[in-house]
Amino acid sequence: MLQIGENEVEGENVSSGKSELQMYRINSIESTLVIRQLPSLGIAFKLWLPATTLVTLLDNYRRDPSTSPLTHTFSNFHSVGSDSSSPLNIVELGSGTGIVGIAAAATLGANVTVTDLPNVIENLKFNADANAEAVARFGGKVHVASLRWGETDDVEVLGQNVDLILASDVVYHEHLYDPLLKTLRFMLLEGSKRVFLMAHLKRWKKESIFFKKARKLFDVDVIHCDDPQEGSRIGVVVYRFAPKNQTLKKKDNC
Ligand SMILES: C[S@@+](CC[C@H](N)C(=O)[O-])C[C@H]1O[C@@H](n2cnc3c(N)ncnc32)[C@H](O)[C@@H]1O
Repeated sequence: MLQIGENEVEGENVSSGKSELQMYRINSIESTLVIRQLPSLGIAFKLWLPATTLVTLLDNYRRDPSTSPLTHTFSNFHSVGSDSSSPLNIVELGSGTGIVGIAAAATLGANVTVTDLPNVIENLKFNADANAEAVARFGGKVHVASLRWGETDDVEVLGQNVDLILASDVVYHEHLYDPLLKTLRFMLLEGSKRVFLMAHLKRWKKESIFFKKARKLFDVDVIHCDDPQEGSRIGVVVYRFAPKNQTLKKKDNC
C-alpha cells in the first residue's frame, strides 16, 4: 500500500501519469463502476482503504437498510432513494479518485458534488464522466468542483443545498487539520440538520489532535468499525460529526 508522505508529486500533469483502471462491483445495483488511478502523480490519484469501506457501506445500505450502520443517520433525511422527487444533496471533501461520491450518487440516487484541490479536478472529471451513465440509471448525478479546505469562498460557491458531507482518509498531515476543521465548521452550521460522515484509518498518534479539536466543535460518534486487515492492528472507523445539540439520537455501533 502506498504510504502517505511518500510518492507525492506536486503539480505534475495528469497526462504524464501512468494510468490504472480499477473496476468496482456494486452488487446492490448490479453494476460495475470504473475508476482511473494515476498512482505516480501522488496521494490524490490513488484509491485509499477508507474509501472502499464507505463504498461497501453504501452498497450494503442499498441492499438491506435494516442491517446498515448508515440507516440511523439517513433516517434524518426524507429524500434518500432513487424514486424521490427531491434527491439527497451530498458534497464529498478530498474526493481523490471520486469513487465514494460516485458510488453514493448511484446507490442513493443522489446529487453529489465531488471536490478536491484544483490539480485533481481533471482526473475527477474523467472518473465522473466514465460513470455518468451508470449513475444516471439509478437517478443520481455527479458534479465536480474545486474545494480547498479552509477557503470558505470555495464552499459558498456550492450553495446552501447540502444535506450530507462525506469524506474518506482526509486526516493525515497535521498542517491540514485546521483548514479541514474550518471548512467543516462553515458547513456544519449550528442548528442545521447536516451531518458529516468520515471514514478514517488511524496511522499516527498525532491524529488524536484532530479528533480532540473536532469534539470541541461537533458531536462526534463512531458509527462503524471494520475489522483490521491482515497484519494490521487497527481497522477503518467511520465517524459521524453533527452540529452540537442536533437532535439526532446517539447510537454507537462499535
Ligand atoms: C489520502 S487522499 C484520500 C482520497 C480519497 N478520499 C480516498 O479515500 O481514496 C487525501 C485527499 O485529500 C485531498 N486534500 C489534501 N489537502 C487538501 C486541501 N487543502 N483541500 C482539499 N483537498 C485536499 C488530497 O488531494 C487527496 O485527494
